[in-house]
Amino acid sequence: MSNEGYTRLDRHAHTAADDLRQFTLDVLHGLSEKPKRLPSRWIYDEHGSRLFNDICELQEYYPTRCEAEILHAHARDIVAAAGAPLDVIDLGAGDGRKSSILLEAASGARYVPIDISESAMQELVAAMRQRHPGIEVSGIIGEYFDALNWLSTRSGRRSLVLFLGSNIGNFSKVQARVFLRQLWEALNPGDLVLIGWDLKKDIDLLIDAYNDAKGVTAKFNTNLLARINRELGGEFNLEQFRHYATYDVYSGAIESYIVSMVRQTVAVKGLRTSFDFDEWEPIHTEYSYKYLQADIDALAAATGFAGVAQYHDSRRWFTDSLWKVVKD
Ligand code: AVJ
Repeated sequence: MSNEGYTRLDRHAHTAADDLRQFTLDVLHGLSEKPKRLPSRWIYDEHGSRLFNDICELQEYYPTRCEAEILHAHARDIVAAAGAPLDVIDLGAGDGRKSSILLEAASGARYVPIDISESAMQELVAAMRQRHPGIEVSGIIGEYFDALNWLSTRSGRRSLVLFLGSNIGNFSKVQARVFLRQLWEALNPGDLVLIGWDLKKDIDLLIDAYNDAKGVTAKFNTNLLARINRELGGEFNLEQFRHYATYDVYSGAIESYIVSMVRQTVAVKGLRTSFDFDEWEPIHTEYSYKYLQADIDALAAATGFAGVAQYHDSRRWFTDSLWKVVKD
């Protein structure tokens, strides 16, 4: 481990130039397709990450507060179930605030965030060291499963993997199952995972959570176009596009779109091309799947995990499941 507080899996070195190349390809591909689409992962540059933190403060966006309530109430039980010595491994830590609630109850643990972005890692490591002077912070820069596989062969400690905030909701049901199986593969028997799920609930509450009155979610979503303008020389006029989020009762997902309100052609100079939009043509940007407890239990069984505990907030709008890896 280097003294910056993180290790780089150099086999998988991932630079800003790699990111830009992939962003370029995804934009070219996604805006050339019909229906048009852009992957939600590109929302999270510096602006998008700040907007997401603002979303977490919104009255309408309940998941963050629900999960914080759960973690405050059960941090001790979760850490006790894991035992010691413990690596708390964080996938998708963001600003680390939720993980901090657990770490408050995990003295002696080592905190191991995994992230593909070196700049995000630098900030997170600095913030977490300041907040938790007693905890060893040792991040890994790399893809989730490369990092987990690398770690599980050398750590010798019990792992507790955090995948909080209903980040799993961005995956389709099939992708979620594959993700969980890869997680299982990368861990040792007895390791634990703590996964945050947003539950199906009254549709008006779901719709409001993705259509806040202040328009922060709209800014967050359309940051995709703003980012194309900033990084790829795009000429999107954001006034001519609107955010639209709807709930699909069949798939159980909030689906987010950016809709062109007029017929227009938009140049993206960095791509040396332009894209045609019909009036009211959508770009699909994000799925946020909602779950039933039965779906969650079935996923655990299908991917090799045994349920240890299921935690809920007081309104039972959100749940964190604690599962154990079972092998042979
Ligand atoms: C961070 C992926 C869990 O889907 O609820 C918030 C992102 N999108 N508002 C979610 C998001 C619109 C969020 N996740």
